[in-house]
Amino acid sequence: MATIDNGFPLETGPAPRTASAGLSLLAGVAAVAIVILLVVAHDQVATWGVERATDPVSLSLLAAGAVFLILGGVIVLTRLGLGGAIALIGVLFWLAGCIVFKSFGWVLAVPVALGLLGSLTGLVANDRRVSETDSTLIYRQAGLTRLTHWVWAVAMFFLLLSGLQIFNARPNLYVGQQSGFAFENSIMDIYATNGPSGPAGQTKLFGQIYNTTGVLGMSGSAAQPVFTAFPGWATIPSYRDLGTGRVVHFFFAWILVGALAIWLIQALASGHFWRDIVLKPRDIRGLPGDIIDHIRLRFTHGRSYTPLQKVAYFGVFVIAFPLIILTGLTMSPGMDAAWPWLLELFGGRQTARTIHFVTMVAFVLFFVVHIIMVVLANPINELRSMITGYYRTNVHAAPDSKTEGH
Ligand code: HEM
Repeated sequence: MATIDNGFPLETGPAPRTASAGLSLLAGVAAVAIVILLVVAHDQVATWGVERATDPVSLSLLAAGAVFLILGGVIVLTRLGLGGAIALIGVLFWLAGCIVFKSFGWVLAVPVALGLLGSLTGLVANDRRVSETDSTLIYRQAGLTRLTHWVWAVAMFFLLLSGLQIFNARPNLYVGQQSGFAFENSIMDIYATNGPSGPAGQTKLFGQIYNTTGVLGMSGSAAQPVFTAFPGWATIPSYRDLGTGRVVHFFFAWILVGALAIWLIQALASGHFWRDIVLKPRDIRGLPGDIIDHIRLRFTHGRSYTPLQKVAYFGVFVIAFPLIILTGLTMSPGMDAAWPWLLELFGGRQTARTIHFVTMVAFVLFFVVHIIMVVLANPINELRSMITGYYRTNVHAAPDSKTEGH
């Protein structure tokens, strides 16, 4: 048995390895065949209940899913856990492609089912192997950390989609105190326009115009185009309804604020904030090495977070969450009357709205990296720690940590 320095053993028994590789490769080959059929023989695929995928975004997501599934299937042969994780990323890409494509014909489910079986076979067998070599689980995440994490994860989902609905009512971003036709202070505009070959969606960013037909400004099929900034699949409700969007947004905004307040009290009281979130000089010194370890996919699983994790979570708790909440409050006329300093702090309501939007984009980027990291770092171990609190380490546990035989 070789080393397990990133939680994924190098050598594992042949049975699960072969099964995982076989299933993931089968899923990958099926995915490639479907993508080719979607492009060259669409009429055939249509008989299986799949609509025509013409937009480049869904086709790229499906193609990326196929590549990761094949890659995962090959890597599983030498690194069972890592290969399983990469195949799981393939499944997630494929699912994202189906959601953007808005098609769930049965044939599209084939790579998902095979890919899930293949990746989970690898991940579960890997987890069992690791527990044979390292029998110590440490208690890493307190109950309130776990509870508040899942509450804000759900809240952020509803906030993002209802926020895009609200944005669609005025799909422009301005800098300054004012907005309107008389002002030239917009930095981003999403709109539909009539081009030489018919209507098109465009996005103007800092004066530069991009064609975003199919995603921004104009979406839907050619026969039934929809002229909203963000497409229906990215908003709550999926149709234009500002009133409901605002009700959903404000409801989940208070859920988020409540969950964060509870998190902050317990994180300060238990020492979680100081130990795991605040960067110390030692963390700054360890940052370059940790970045290299992450690039090489060699993760340290310890009692506390690694320097790079601390940077990410510090940014989320100390910069992004406060910024998105305060700029949200600045957009409320009632809050402006109560706390006029908010308007001064953010340079007016329009600038606050732009900062709110940019922070949302940062959260989406954080979310994508966060999920990829959880999957690559061994999702069973990571998710167990965020559900049950118990985490398997590959470094010596701190003497004060609560341990449990396994
Ligand atoms: C927008 C949604 C999300 C946000 C803003 C977010 C943010 C965070 C933050 C700030 C932490 C550190 C928490 C602490 O130490 O107190 C964390 C940890 C964690 N999150 Fe999320 N999260 C989100 C969604 C998710 C989802 C959907 C998953 C599951 C796939 C997930 C899995 C985890 C895990 C496993 C940990 C512990 C990771 C570790 O050991 O580094 N998160 N998340």
